[in-house]
Amino acid sequence: MSDTEVTRKLRVGLIGCGGISNAHLPHLSSSEDVELAAFCDVVVERARKHADKYGGNVYDDAEKMLASEKLDAAFILIPTYAHGAPERACLRAGVPFLVEKPLGLYPDDLRQLSREITEANLLAVAGFMNRYRKSVHRARELFQRDPVILLDGAWIGGPPIQRDDDYFAKNPIGQWWPIKEKSGGQFVEQVIHTVDLARYLAGEVVEVFAYAARGFNQKLPNLIQNYNLDDAMVVSMRFESGAVGNIMSCCAAPQGGGVFLNLWAAQHTARFHEWAHHVQIYRAGEPGAEEIRGDVEEIFPLEDRAFLNAVKTGDRSGIRSPYADGVRSTLVALAANESLEKGTPVQVQYA
Ligand SMILES: NC(=O)c1ccc[n+]([C@@H]2O[C@H](COP(=O)([O-])OP(=O)(O)OC[C@H]3O[C@@H](n4cnc5c(N)ncnc54)[C@H](O)[C@@H]3O)[C@@H](O)[C@H]2O)c1
Repeated sequence: MSDTEVTRKLRVGLIGCGGISNAHLPHLSSSEDVELAAFCDVVVERARKHADKYGGNVYDDAEKMLASEKLDAAFILIPTYAHGAPERACLRAGVPFLVEKPLGLYPDDLRQLSREITEANLLAVAGFMNRYRKSVHRARELFQRDPVILLDGAWIGGPPIQRDDDYFAKNPIGQWWPIKEKSGGQFVEQVIHTVDLARYLAGEVVEVFAYAARGFNQKLPNLIQNYNLDDAMVVSMRFESGAVGNIMSCCAAPQGGGVFLNLWAAQHTARFHEWAHHVQIYRAGEPGAEEIRGDVEEIFPLEDRAFLNAVKTGDRSGIRSPYADGVRSTLVALAANESLEKGTPVQVQYA
């Protein structure tokens, strides 16, 4: 055990108590080394609902929570537009945090925040949980020796509509996700997972060029209110290694098309499919494929455990998605929006 290892329960606070908090809370609440000490949400009833169930104090502002509670760690689970203030409140209080993707909407602010966090050497983690999957780990191992030449990926789903059983209609996310100025659009908010995996497996992206399809969903009689997203995007990418790729989003195909990412290298082809990122890996000249299911591990507990262990021990070697790296994936997705606005290819500015 190191001198600085925390042996008592970790006092944990949540900032944002909406949909995704329910993916983190079941295992956090049953972890013997975690005390759920505080819940914060600008819609304070949501924080209170969790506190009623799990205990802990209730706040409507992250700054107030961090000033009043002595926390060991925070989870920032808020909409894309709300980033910045909660992260800075954690930074000032010196509280390590895990923040859900994407990490923000404004490139200049993201670059600045990333610098501040790196300079302060604060433990901060981006919620790109797919990096913790065995399927992804295996592909990364292979592509580090056999570099990716070409990739294509996509998330293809249906439109958010006004219907009782529609995920967006019945959850708070429906109030901001369909508005591009708030969510960044589907490519930034959702397909960022694929952008992040593309970087994790094929290296840094240097340039993007995007096209969008618009106006198709607007013809639907029951489209969710305030929807102004691109119905589909194709984003071509050039990688530092010389590889090229194409990643697509679509939220206008009710019959779906799923989540996939295919990568080709000289010796290996990897085909990831579904949200769980199951993979088939083919090796040149060999019959059949190596198959790894992406759901053999429960992914949110695995990601959160890596973070909490780093908080406890100070050893960050188990972290696969540091904040600064998550910022870089977010900057790639935001550069795609910039390319749409300019109608030209855009070099990704990381620094
Ligand atoms: N990793 C994944 O696969 C995954 C899945 C779903 C959502 N997410 C991400 O999690 C984030 C939140 O999504 P969600 O579905 O929980 O949205 P949500 O709208 O259901 O919940 C967000 C909550 O944050 C609160 N909030 C807004 N601004 C705040 C602030 N400044 N301080 C405190 N609370 C604030 C809102 O009132 C709301 O209750 C998004 O970035 C989303 O992309 C990740």
